[in-house]
Amino acid sequence: MNRIKLSATTSTNDYLKDFYIKKELQNHTIVVTKKQTNGRGQSGSSWHSEEDKNLTFSILEKDFMYDSDTVFLLNVAVALAVRKFVSSISKTKISIKWPNDILADSKKIAGILIENTIKSDGTFVSIIGIGINCNQTEFSEEIKATSLTKINNQLYDLDFLLNEFETVFLEYIAILKSTKKKKLWEEYHNNLFKIKCPMVFENMNNQKFMGIIQGVSPEGKLMVLLENDSIVYFGIKEIKMCY
Ligand code: BTN
Repeated sequence: MNRIKLSATTSTNDYLKDFYIKKELQNHTIVVTKKQTNGRGQSGSSWHSEEDKNLTFSILEKDFMYDSDTVFLLNVAVALAVRKFVSSISKTKISIKWPNDILADSKKIAGILIENTIKSDGTFVSIIGIGINCNQTEFSEEIKATSLTKINNQLYDLDFLLNEFETVFLEYIAILKSTKKKKLWEEYHNNLFKIKCPMVFENMNNQKFMGIIQGVSPEGKLMVLLENDSIVYFGIKEIKMCY
């Protein structure tokens, strides 16, 4: 994979987006940095990462035909790649919290921010931003985070980790482009955090309710069985898990 290494930038997602607009870049180009001054997370949140301790990078993926199922399936493939990579290094159970947070023992170890642009020819360009907590050991209490070092009590070489990740990532992108897409859904559901477990949720009006996750729909909605036996489909901003 074509790799651009930076010592600092605002956000690797923003850097890659700007670069791509100015210059035609090879598919799978990856931008990695030691430090982000404006790291971004999902739903307008920030992503904080201590300088040179973690992996913060973005990958360019292009030429997929646009439809809402393919867009979410890319999320699925990326989440599975990050999960598999983290599992290959850490000894604890790694799960995917819908839609694509990666958790180790209920604590966040990696986050994914995918930003898509649809082109006039019906294809889309994706900037896949990934932050993986590697050698950082201090996290503020409220974010419930962990790292490879906290779990395994050892330090990691970030270049080595990125090489390993790239191999796993390309494996999953190949599955996504093959006829074996069903396999991705099976693996995603097998590793979905709290699937089939009764738990408390909170809606947009801050009301709490009980429900049981049944799965995720092809377009990426969370399917929750409520106490009145109905199954409701929630979009990303419509529901929060309380765990
Ligand atoms: C989240 O869990 O909210 C998503 C976090 C994504 C963080 C990564 S770090 C590299 C890339 N650049 C960014 O600004 N964000 C993503």
